[in-house]
Formats: sequence, C-alpha cells, structure tokens
Amino acid sequence: MDLTRRPRRLRRDGLRDLVSETTLAASDLIAPVFVDATTEERIPIESMPGHERVPVNEAATRVEEIAATGVESVIVFGIPESKDARGTRAWADDGVVQRALRRITDETDVFCITDVCLCEYTDHGHCGVLADEARDRWEDGRAEADGGAAGLHAHRETGLTVDNDATLDLLGKTATSHAAAGADMVAPSSATDGMVGAIRAALDDVEHTDVPIMSYAAKYESAFYGPFRDAADGAPAFGDRRHYQMDPANADEALREVDLDVDQGADVLMVKPALPYLDVVSAVDDRTDHPVAAYNVSGEYAMLHAAAEKGWLDLDAVAHESLLSIKRAGADLILTYFAEDVAKQL
Ligand code: PBG
Repeated sequence: MDLTRRPRRLRRDGLRDLVSETTLAASDLIAPVFVDATTEERIPIESMPGHERVPVNEAATRVEEIAATGVESVIVFGIPESKDARGTRAWADDGVVQRALRRITDETDVFCITDVCLCEYTDHGHCGVLADEARDRWEDGRAEADGGAAGLHAHRETGLTVDNDATLDLLGKTATSHAAAGADMVAPSSATDGMVGAIRAALDDVEHTDVPIMSYAAKYESAFYGPFRDAADGAPAFGDRRHYQMDPANADEALREVDLDVDQGADVLMVKPALPYLDVVSAVDDRTDHPVAAYNVSGEYAMLHAAAEKGWLDLDAVAHESLLSIKRAGADLILTYFAEDVAKQL
C-alpha cells in the first residue's frame, strides 16, 4: 500500500496526549448539592445513586466531601420547610439556602453558586407566580381535576400559566438574599423573560455589583429533568412548563435567548440539558465570547447509572466520555452529578 497519510500515527501513546484537542479538568466541574430543611438526616435520592438531600447542619460537610475530590465549585438547591403560592421561603433571610450558604462560606473555600427559581418554594410547583386564570383553576381544584389540561386552558385564556412580570421582582429578591448570605454567583433557572436584567438591577441596587449571573439562557422543557424533580420536590402540581421553558424543536431560538441575556448583563450562558443538546452548546459557543456552561442533567446521570447497574455500560468510562463530549462541543463549565466521580479519575 502506498499510503502517505496515516492518521493512526498520531494515536500512539506519548503522542496522543500531545495532540489531544480537549482536556477535562476538575476545575471545569460544578457539583449540585441538595439541602433539605425538613430533615435531620441525610436522605439518599433513589433515582440519582450517590446523591443525597442533606440537612442544613451537614451542608458544609457535604461540600467538604466534594472539595476533597478536587471539584472547586458547587451549585446549591434548597428544599424548604414550607411552600406557599408565591414561594416566599425562597427569599427568606432564614431560608434553607440562605442558612446553608452561611455555613458553607464560613467553613469552606468552595465557590458557591445558587439556583434562583421558585418551583421548589411554590405550593403549585411552577417557576413563578401563577397567572390569574391558572391560579383560579388551581385554587378551586379544577387544575388537579383536569390534570395536564389546566396549563393549556390557562394558556388559551390568558396566554400564560405563570405571570412573567409579577415573577421578576421575586427573583430579584431571591437573588439578593442569596448574595447577602454569601453566594459567589447566582444562576436564575426560571425561564422568566427579563430575569437577568431584573436580577442584575436588584443586585446592583444593594451593592452586589461583583456577584456574577450565570443564566440558564437556553433552558429546554425537557423530560430529562425527571429525577431532579424527585430530588428537589419541584414538580408542577398541574400542567407543564412548556409556556416558559423552550421547545426542544428549536435551536435558532436559543440564540435569541442568549442575545437577550447578554444584553441584560449575563456573565455566563448556560445550555440545559447537555448531551441531547450538544448542537445548541456548539451554536451558543460560536455566537458569544462569554463563557458557556452546560448542565448535564439528572436524567442524563440516571440513565447511565441504570445501564451500568444492568452491567451494560462501564460507568466510569461513559461518565468521562460524556463530559469530554460536552467540553468538545464548546462548554467551558459543566454542571454535573458526575463531578465527584469524574474528578477522582482525573
Ligand atoms: C429549577 C431547576 C430544575 C433543574 C435545575 N433547576 C428543574 C426544572 O426546571 O424543571 C433541573 C436539573 C436536573 O434535572 O438535573 N427550575
């Protein structure tokens, strides 16, 4: 054979690392932490093996465990002691995230991000205050009775399940209360139009001009969030989130979302989920000079675990390959439940 071009030459040990185009480091990874105000003990999350809801007084210990693997950042989610129509526990000074953050920042050096959303704090489980029509249906029981149809009715009659503009103020309050408790960065995930601008203004107003915003900019209405809703108890009690989260069919729309968030002052732009949306990660990376984050979500984690449990996949190998692929697609940061496991391998 007269082959002058032989790509295999570069694949031998010693050389393959020199020419490798993508590297994964523990410093790229952000580990989710669930803090639960309703428990005194750690509760394993069944659909996410290796993850637990921890009580407030163990939040710092949990974060130390993560740091011991080399991971330097966490994102904190809270499960409050009570829920109501507006999600008031989300911005309470003695709320679950606020209490946990004070402990974590006192006792560790880990970079602390908070998820800013209302779905874990509202009794109806939507990511904001309900629009009038949806609230009426919910309050008089029709929403439950007609199940998934309620969102659609509300949509037809008022245009929205959630009142977008009435939610903005509450997100601003939540973000500033997180910053006051020591959050190093806030990450709004409610898919509310204008959320980044509202939060930036609220933070700047109380002199938190240095707290960056990582926006869940391209957040899809995805079935891959299933296990998270068990973990954080944030499933909508009726209807779904398709009137505020993005349609999985759309990619150009993600770029419009990203442009809006950049205009409103976002510092980091996130795409979520990650693996089924690598085309979007890549398009967003091409579009902007801002750092791009990707959220390797609960369902992506759960499905690899389930296959590994059956002996069908090598978990360490597929976890590493998944994160490498997300970086190759253009993500700079990865939020992932595999953070600790993969960091240990690196
Ligand atoms: C809150 C929020 C969700 C996730 C992150 N923040 C749930 C949702 O939007 O339904 C999902 C994370 C995951 O599945 O790992 N809005």
